[in-house]
Amino acid sequence: MTKGLILSGGWGTRLRPLTCTIPKTLIPIVNRPVMERQILKLKEAGVKEIILAVSVMSDIVKNYFKDGEKLGIKIYYTNEKFPAGTAGALKLAESYLSDENFFMLNGDVIFNFDFRKMLEFHERKGGIGTIASKLVNDPSRYGVLITDDLSNKVLKFLEKEEYVPPKEGPKPMPINAGVYLLEPEILSYIEPNKKVSIEREVFPKVAREKDLFHYPIEGVWKDIGKPEELLNGNILLLKELIKNKATSEKNLISDSVQIDPTVTIISPCAIGEKVIIGKNCTIGPNAIIGDNVYIEDNVKISNCIVYNESYISQNANIDTAIIADNCLIEEGVTLKGNGENLIILASYVSVRKNIKLIATDKSSITFCHHELIKDDIF
Ligand code: GTP
Repeated sequence: MTKGLILSGGWGTRLRPLTCTIPKTLIPIVNRPVMERQILKLKEAGVKEIILAVSVMSDIVKNYFKDGEKLGIKIYYTNEKFPAGTAGALKLAESYLSDENFFMLNGDVIFNFDFRKMLEFHERKGGIGTIASKLVNDPSRYGVLITDDLSNKVLKFLEKEEYVPPKEGPKPMPINAGVYLLEPEILSYIEPNKKVSIEREVFPKVAREKDLFHYPIEGVWKDIGKPEELLNGNILLLKELIKNKATSEKNLISDSVQIDPTVTIISPCAIGEKVIIGKNCTIGPNAIIGDNVYIEDNVKISNCIVYNESYISQNANIDTAIIADNCLIEEGVTLKGNGENLIILASYVSVRKNIKLIATDKSSITFCHHELIKDDIF
């Protein structure tokens, strides 16, 4: 039976300070860790055993998933003392993966496609590996695949810095979506006991010597490398999850919430377990609120993720922001991002009464965990 390997050992530097307290793969996407969503998708396709290649903050990941019993799947962990790179991490899982093909996933991508179809495609093509690809309008931020349209073969890999957009401007290209289906033979291309990158060192060589294919995926796909991608990815997946619901249910609201009847909810919104929302609040559009969040009266929240256990006091106005777990927003606070420039509060940040944090179009406003904000920024 095809197994799954998920990479969960990078530093997540681009998502700091959120990743100072939460490993990137446990960052919630519509109120569930991104990697948990992936595990459930693999399970849906019939995968029964998953290996998590953990390194940075491995104890937190192990403590969350344990042996997988709660998710109804068997989970094993590799022993990687220092980040070994994406291929080095795979090599450490060799003993689990040497007999059959396996899925390999970057643990920080959001998607919603069917793995069974990818498996069928891979078996039909019979290559050493299949790379899920996504057609994007501006490929310059990703690893680009140069492919043969007829056979779906990957001819060449171009890393971000190698891709030169055409003079007339970027054109849609397939990019490496960070999801692979590989034959065990690929392991022989990785030198042991060394930091090795699968994208930069292994795939380019394999593409020259063997048949490597790409499988174009449709629908939602996003890697959550940067904060603005994290916010957009949450909103995209939220829309996807409610797409097929009846018009009367265009939100994901748990049964245990207490919402005052005067509250206006503007779709799409997700509201987690045991959230309390006071009078005359306006929630949404694009508000994703975790579990046990307390929101007092007259609060406005839009284009925003609020993680579990945060407290938002009355008359706060929050737009285009990410508020991590256990934050305290005192009354009358304004947090306002600007397009891709967000207001980002890491875990346990407190914002004092009537403070205004307003992003310009130049950069995000970011606070590290446990900071106390006493001065306006705009
Ligand atoms: P940045 O530091 O912001 O680039 O993030 P990152 O460290 O997560 O790197 P990247 O986005 O390239 O990682 C893609 C996936 O591979 C993520 O799921 C990472 O957790 C994982 N990953 C990256 N490097 C390693 C590594 O050395 N070991 C393991 N086990 N996983 C890794």
